[in-house]
Amino acid sequence: MPKRSFPLSRVYRLLEPGPVVLLTTSRKGRDNVMTQSWHTMLEFEPPLVAMVVSNRNYSFDALRTTRECVINVPTAKLAKEIVGCGNTSGRKTDKFERFGLTRKSASEVAAPLIDECWASLEGRVVDTRMVEKYGLFVIEVVKAWVDASLKNPRTLHHRGMGLFMIAGESVKLPSRMK
Ligand SMILES: Cc1cc2nc3c(=O)[nH]c(=O)nc-3n(C[C@H](O)[C@H](O)[C@H](O)COP(=O)(O)O)c2cc1C
Repeated sequence: MPKRSFPLSRVYRLLEPGPVVLLTTSRKGRDNVMTQSWHTMLEFEPPLVAMVVSNRNYSFDALRTTRECVINVPTAKLAKEIVGCGNTSGRKTDKFERFGLTRKSASEVAAPLIDECWASLEGRVVDTRMVEKYGLFVIEVVKAWVDASLKNPRTLHHRGMGLFMIAGESVKLPSRMK
């Protein structure tokens, strides 16, 4: 394949991460939701997820002080809400109200689940050693909810600069994991 040099500032666009998620937090009685795409799995069980949250975001302090959140996984149907929650701050806006999102009580944490999302993972921050340097929180998923009726969830994947990829069909390949 003939390749050309690619700017280092855009490398993140090549390593396409998992689905864009809606991260909910709750602090001092105020629920908030922010769009997040820089995350990765770290461990199978207990499930550990690393999430990068900038300290410029209102969600940062909520996550750092309450050490709780819900990682909600939307499908492409929520594209407008996903972009909206990623371009407004909870400092001044109730994003649940503004974007018509329905909150549901979680069972293990104070942050709410988003009813319109395909899956919701209740989580607790278990490692903050890289927060100062990278804004990286390690979160243990303590309860997971999923709409099992959705067999092929069409999740959104961020490719940078307003470009998204929508997950499509699934393929079954040989694997030692049954
Ligand atoms: C598609 C998309 C992905 C984003 N991913 C992240 C991310 O991984 N980490 C982050 O800190 N901000 C990310 N943002 C930006 C935040 O969602 C944005 O700054 C938001 O306004 C923060 O809300 P808050 O101030 O209410 O916390 C993303 C935004 C969009 C639109």
